[in-house]
Amino acid sequence: MTIHIGAAPGDIAETVLMPGDPYRAKWAAETFLSDIRQINAVRGMLGFTGTWNGHRVTIQGSGMGMPSLSIYANELIRDYNAQTLIRIGSCGGMQDHVGLRDIILAMTASTLTSPSSAIFRELNFAPCADWSLLNAAATAAKAKGTQTHIGGIYSSDTFYDERPDLNEQMVRHGVLGVEMEAAELYTLAARYNRRALAVLTVSDHLITGASLPAQERERSFADMVEIALNAAFP
Ligand code: ADE
Repeated sequence: MTIHIGAAPGDIAETVLMPGDPYRAKWAAETFLSDIRQINAVRGMLGFTGTWNGHRVTIQGSGMGMPSLSIYANELIRDYNAQTLIRIGSCGGMQDHVGLRDIILAMTASTLTSPSSAIFRELNFAPCADWSLLNAAATAAKAKGTQTHIGGIYSSDTFYDERPDLNEQMVRHGVLGVEMEAAELYTLAARYNRRALAVLTVSDHLITGASLPAQERERSFADMVEIALNAAFP
């Protein structure tokens, strides 16, 4: 048991999918895994372990934002020996050619700050995805026929943004979408020599102002989980 995860040693698989929303963790486990067991409920941040095609998988909520994800990813890596961590979540589209429901595979994640900023000081560290996971996810997305974009994203500290000039610079520099967790996940994976990837569904769009209705979010979420599982076990 750790401070934020009530699982016993061995309850957590080496491969962990991390949605922000704990209810999404429950839904994904019930929809895609067999023999599931709830392994965490501390603070309502639900986690489940089961099997997918014979492979052991944990799906653990991360909460929203890098400080929350940092807590769960640190404990999963350092205390439970998680080796492969895949964020599954939503993002806001930032380019005209990126549409609602499209999938973004985040090759890199830019940030203004993250929980790791303090250790890097003046260095602009470049958090990036694990190539083997990214490559396998790209192959899985292609096989599914899902509209997919691969490139840089922006991990923001704010959903309700007060810096339109910053978003403009992101758009200008080809950043595909904005979410709030991947940069810290990639940084922790680099620090502890683990594999990480963020597979994201575009749920809203910063340029058009469009957003997906709740029911459609679920369908796109299913595509994302399948791509993540196939990336982990190609
Ligand atoms: N996650 C989904 N949409 C987002 C947005 N517009 N900004 C930050 N995170 C998001």
